[in-house]
Amino acid sequence: MIVLGIESTCDETAAALVEDGRHLLSNVISTSVKEQALYGGVVPEIASRRHCEFISATVKKALLDAGKTIDDVDAVAVTFAPGLIGAVLVGVNFAKGLAYSANKPLVPVHHLRGHIAALYITHPELKPPFLCLVASGGHSHIVEVQDYTHYHILGHTVDDAAGEAFDKVARTLGLPYPGGPSVANAAKTGDPKAYRLPVPHVEGKYNVSFSGLKTAVLNEVNQAQMKGTDINVPDLAASFQERIAGILAEKLLLAAADNGAKQVCLAGGVAANGRLRQLVNDGAQKLGAKVYLPELKYCGDNGAMIAAQGYYEFKDGNIADLTLNGLPTLSIDYR
Ligand code: KG4
Ligand code: ZN
Repeated sequence: MIVLGIESTCDETAAALVEDGRHLLSNVISTSVKEQALYGGVVPEIASRRHCEFISATVKKALLDAGKTIDDVDAVAVTFAPGLIGAVLVGVNFAKGLAYSANKPLVPVHHLRGHIAALYITHPELKPPFLCLVASGGHSHIVEVQDYTHYHILGHTVDDAAGEAFDKVARTLGLPYPGGPSVANAAKTGDPKAYRLPVPHVEGKYNVSFSGLKTAVLNEVNQAQMKGTDINVPDLAASFQERIAGILAEKLLLAAADNGAKQVCLAGGVAANGRLRQLVNDGAQKLGAKVYLPELKYCGDNGAMIAAQGYYEFKDGNIADLTLNGLPTLSIDYR
């Protein structure tokens, strides 16, 4: 079964063809990230406008690259939640029009479920149940993936998402958007022990909190300014990365140990972080659990992950009609 996946929740307009949820046929991403970087973050209005401009050509190229036409596609899957609503609606309405005109089933996909499904493309042997940390610009969840469409949230951030914390700290340090890759890059030459950053206290065994950590970085910068001294950017970036990756890995591994998880996974944009990947790899091996990490190209937003999850949603009977609406927020465990 060939599924066309369409994604437009943030600054990537993406489309891909995936066969049977696992086998990639094409994957096309058009992004407004360079334009967004001029403003230090995503401007929702600009994102929506670029989606409108890019979406037809992006979907067309995904079909062309796969050597297929819309007639070869068995279902049109689209991210309908959560995301920047103006951006989400572009993908949803395009998918509705395409599904209607080509007489194909329309499959609504939750963005975070899609991030998790990116793992199925990288690891064709991976099957639920498994434990997954999904960390992106808007979410940080520790999720028990019970089967392909059933999820149980064990922990979440009580304030900022991990990616959001990377983006805000990058801005504080004068590093470009998106913050994750620029902090990771600056951290390469830094000393992770140079700055003592706090371990935030948070209620809930598997919950995380990053707003205090973000403020601690801001305080270091402000204090240096007041004293007329310089911040060592690579050192502060490395210290921050060490702390946030340490917290994320620790909570995931704690949940894995408590629940006897045999398979531990990472997903979402922050899953591209090298230090986080290393800590989870090392820790899970000690627990005797198998680790599955998404290929770097499937960590950020893409259409392949939506097509992969779309396959499993379709098999579960999750098919929408033309009343499908986009939603800015929706829990991953929705039914
Ligand atoms: O999943 P994603 O592409 O979009 C959302 O669904 O939000 O995640 C984007 C987030 C951004 O906050 C970005 O800074 C972060 O992922 N990110 C990283 C890295 N690459 C991207 N964070 C840490 N280290 C990275 N290497
Ligand atoms: Zn995402």
